[in-house]
Amino acid sequence: MNIPKKLSIAIDGPAASGKSTTARLLAKKLGYIYIDTGAMYRAATLAVLKKGINPEDSKNAGKAVAESEISIKIILQEQHTFLDGEDVSKKIRTPEIDRNISVIATNTDIRKIMVAQQQRLAEQGGVVMDGRDIGTVVLPDADLKVFMIASIEARAQRRLQDQAEHNLTLQEIKDDIERRDFADMNRSDGPLKKAEDARELDNSNLSIDDQVDQIYKWVNELIA
Ligand code: DC
Repeated sequence: MNIPKKLSIAIDGPAASGKSTTARLLAKKLGYIYIDTGAMYRAATLAVLKKGINPEDSKNAGKAVAESEISIKIILQEQHTFLDGEDVSKKIRTPEIDRNISVIATNTDIRKIMVAQQQRLAEQGGVVMDGRDIGTVVLPDADLKVFMIASIEARAQRRLQDQAEHNLTLQEIKDDIERRDFADMNRSDGPLKKAEDARELDNSNLSIDDQVDQIYKWVNELIA
């Protein structure tokens, strides 16, 4: 019997472009592992803030992350993020983390730690990994690379719904997304960039199911 190879799938794109939901559902459909690398950078940001270190202090921020244990576990088909044994899945999705994460994501020492850990997690294949630098840096040999984009309006509306409990206005959310995208695109180490061999998927007017179906179709074409 010909068992299809377990592919490595990289999904990159700007903030709130719907990568995580799509990647999670796609992984479920394929029976693959889903790895949300943004959650790992969020946990690294929390590690630095919890230790009372200024995120701008790159040397000590890097040391704090090196001394922390960040891990992810799938529990009841949901990814949970752990920091030093504590489930911080909820604590990493706050405006405070959003405000501080760009500085952490620019820290070269921290990126090295994150990239090495992500590459280890993907070693066996059968993974859907989403982030900013997956197709370019973490998994440059991924079998399928997708670059997801969506209008700023669509992205801000989605984030507004996700973070309803934090009472931010649509404009505040738009400003934060644009600020983070700018920082992500303009850092020298692992910037947000479409890999040359990535397929672009504009999901401004697509439902989640449509997005998952489109990528699932691409996967099946590759396996066939
Ligand atoms: O995917 P997200 O919005 O949860 O990611 C949060 C931040 O983490 C994002 O603004 C940039 C950073 N990030 C990164 O630099 N590289 C990745 N592979 C994933 C996220």
